[in-house]
Amino acid sequence: MTFKSSFCSGRRGFLLGGATAIGAAATGGLPLWCSIARASETSAPDIVDMLLRPGASRASLVSNPAIQTDVWAYNGTVPGPEIRIRQGQRLRARLENTLPQETTIHWHGLRTPNAMDGVPGVTQDAVKPGGSFDYVFDLPDAGTYWYHPHANTTEQLGRGLYGPLIVEETDPLPVDRELVWMLDDWRLGDTAMINGGFNAMHDVSHAGRIGNVVTVNGLAPGQVAVRPGERIRLRLLNAANGRIFALDFDELAPTVIAMDGHPVTPHRDDAPLLLLGPGMRLDLVIDIPVKGKTSFAVMDRFYDGMENRVASLAVSGEAVRDEVPDWDMALKPNPVPEPDLDQATRHDLVYSGGMMGGMVLQQMTQSGHITPEMLSRMGMGGMAGMGNMMRSMSGSGNVWAVNGRDPDRDGDGPLVTLERGQSCRLTLMNATAWLHPIHLHGHAFRLLARNDAPVNHQPWLDTVLIKPGERVEIAFVADNPGDWLIHCHILEHKVGGMSGVIRVL
Ligand code: C2O
Ligand code: CU
Repeated sequence: MTFKSSFCSGRRGFLLGGATAIGAAATGGLPLWCSIARASETSAPDIVDMLLRPGASRASLVSNPAIQTDVWAYNGTVPGPEIRIRQGQRLRARLENTLPQETTIHWHGLRTPNAMDGVPGVTQDAVKPGGSFDYVFDLPDAGTYWYHPHANTTEQLGRGLYGPLIVEETDPLPVDRELVWMLDDWRLGDTAMINGGFNAMHDVSHAGRIGNVVTVNGLAPGQVAVRPGERIRLRLLNAANGRIFALDFDELAPTVIAMDGHPVTPHRDDAPLLLLGPGMRLDLVIDIPVKGKTSFAVMDRFYDGMENRVASLAVSGEAVRDEVPDWDMALKPNPVPEPDLDQATRHDLVYSGGMMGGMVLQQMTQSGHITPEMLSRMGMGGMAGMGNMMRSMSGSGNVWAVNGRDPDRDGDGPLVTLERGQSCRLTLMNATAWLHPIHLHGHAFRLLARNDAPVNHQPWLDTVLIKPGERVEIAFVADNPGDWLIHCHILEHKVGGMSGVIRVL
């Protein structure tokens, strides 16, 4: 763990992020905010206060620590301070914008009230340089979440603005150690400075802005010392703009216990590599063998021939126990309402566009999964269809489309409108040649099926990675009123039009 947060606990846990104590006037060795906490304790419900200041900073992202990169960071560090809070508590986070441009904070995966969702122009006005905004909301769900800006997101995330938000179970899982790894990649030039050129058309129309330097918690991948027999809970988060990680854990065979924060039946994934698209999280339990190998490499093998080491686990010291523990790994489910699949309304979202997308769209049309009715809704019906599509892909900079529309255009309105409390089954169709991690705000959804085949364990997610030509079915209860974005978390794809709104009345 490389996070430095100073805690001072009490019934109200106040935390100050970063090594530089903000409001550094310390009283009796405690930061100022702690004394405030004490003073007002009588009226205190279970509230955690946090001050987040995005601004310019420096970080050593490459293995030579003498080399520093100019970044944007929350409270001076990449990642920003870890926010750790208990399930059921309330977070009060003040954003103070010291960036040279407007920003907001989005609380990725958290089911907050709409006004706290941090989407400029949809849920709030962007916060001007020098301005501030108070985010206040309760945390009904335990799990691994994160925060990041939702204004000029490609650049603001790409320059280092993100941090983990861990909501601890009231009954935490017994483990020897917990690790939080926030994965990212950076596009650095010769002097380890961040390349500008955000939203380059090539990135928008292909795989997003893929970097040339991978970091874990803002540092070059390194070695983690572990002990034989140790049980570790690893919280993995992907904060990259566009990079999908395909993680190989050597012989460690991790058990997946939560996905996108929400508990899932503990299981070993059948696939040899664990896929983690931008925005997604995985909670894993890793048992270090009691004897045998003394070093395990965690590798990213998403891109053939361009593998990256993410970490090495070096086993040393005395064994923690003589055999792997058989303790239960099941977490208590979060209070997410179960959709009523029989009563649910059904909607489809067809994603199209991007380089080489025409072929996939054509295939899905020929196989009958995209119907003539859907095509005409997309403005691609009849003979003119494919030609329209080609035109819509070149031209305007709107490389991608959802149901054929340009969601940023005024007057288009929401993609889907739902009554409050209604159950909804959504089919997401990827009629493109690229993978897309589609993220829904304000709700968790059940992943029901891929290409009509029921998915194992039907996890609760907020982001689902969809392969080219794949159809994914999700379901959720529209219980959170407001306008909620549903967008690709490859941030350059969102810029290119892969975004829209689901309205809950
Ligand atoms: Cu992680 Cu719309 O965001
Ligand atoms: Cu995408």
